[in-house]
Amino acid sequence: MSIRLDRVVKTFGDLTVLDGFSLDVAEEGITTIIGPSGSGKSTTLKLVIGLIQPDEGEVWVDEVRVDELEGDDLYDLRRKVGFVFQFAALFDSMTIGQNVAMGLHRAGELSAGEIEERVRESLALVDLDGVQEKYPSELSGGMRKRAGVARAVALRPRYLLYDEPTTGLDPITVTMIDRLILRMRDELGVTSLVITHDLDSAYRISDHLAMLHKGRIRWEGPPDDIQAVDDPVVRGFITGEPELWEDAS
Ligand SMILES: Nc1ncnc2c1ncn2[C@@H]1O[C@H](COP(=O)(O)OP(=O)(O)OP(=O)(O)O)[C@@H](O)[C@H]1O
Ligand SMILES: [Mg+2]
Repeated sequence: MSIRLDRVVKTFGDLTVLDGFSLDVAEEGITTIIGPSGSGKSTTLKLVIGLIQPDEGEVWVDEVRVDELEGDDLYDLRRKVGFVFQFAALFDSMTIGQNVAMGLHRAGELSAGEIEERVRESLALVDLDGVQEKYPSELSGGMRKRAGVARAVALRPRYLLYDEPTTGLDPITVTMIDRLILRMRDELGVTSLVITHDLDSAYRISDHLAMLHKGRIRWEGPPDDIQAVDDPVVRGFITGEPELWEDAS
């Protein structure tokens, strides 16, 4: 079960972004994919929620083959798999409360009172109590990121995908977001897939770390093990040495 990509190939025109990419995401853990800009990290997440389809290979979420889903089935999948977008992607003309409630209204399962309660709970989970009536423009960047997480968790998904959750934030806010990702695992039992090029954050939050290089996973393992890896591609990336990286690539 959980999320599984199996020998995925994804091209855009002449560009082969993923080239035999396989990854198993451990249940109730935090798996992080690291890799340089343009290596295909966001592409991976888009495949998992069926926003794009692979050219070859299979994408699974639990017992569902995502790359063959259409219409309502895709909608059901996205209720189970929450997505935290890189730039929060809140609607500026709606209050924070309305933004967080959006998916709940669409799902049509809860009464107005229950939705209000769920919004309150979700905002409390990200330490944003009482901001329901504010507009996104009234919040700081870090608060908007957290509101984006609250919106994703409002539907109580089994899975959460985070696209660069800490990029462009100050160190204090980064630590808060890291703790938040850990809290979603510990308090809600969410299985998470995080993509980032923030290595410090990756070391702090990950149960499992995977490095993407040339369209496939070059190395994966517990974060503590990466420092001892000999592979110059991995070393070049984690020490930030382009020469080492380029010679080996
Ligand atoms: N819809 C698309 N059409 C054409 N090319 C695309 C499309 N989506 C992604 N690409 C290309 O695929 C490559 C991988 O993109 P992707 O966004 O997955 O990288 P990334 O690892 O997330 O990078 P970053 O760290 O900068 O966010 C890039 O070269 C990008 O230009
Ligand atoms: Mg990206």
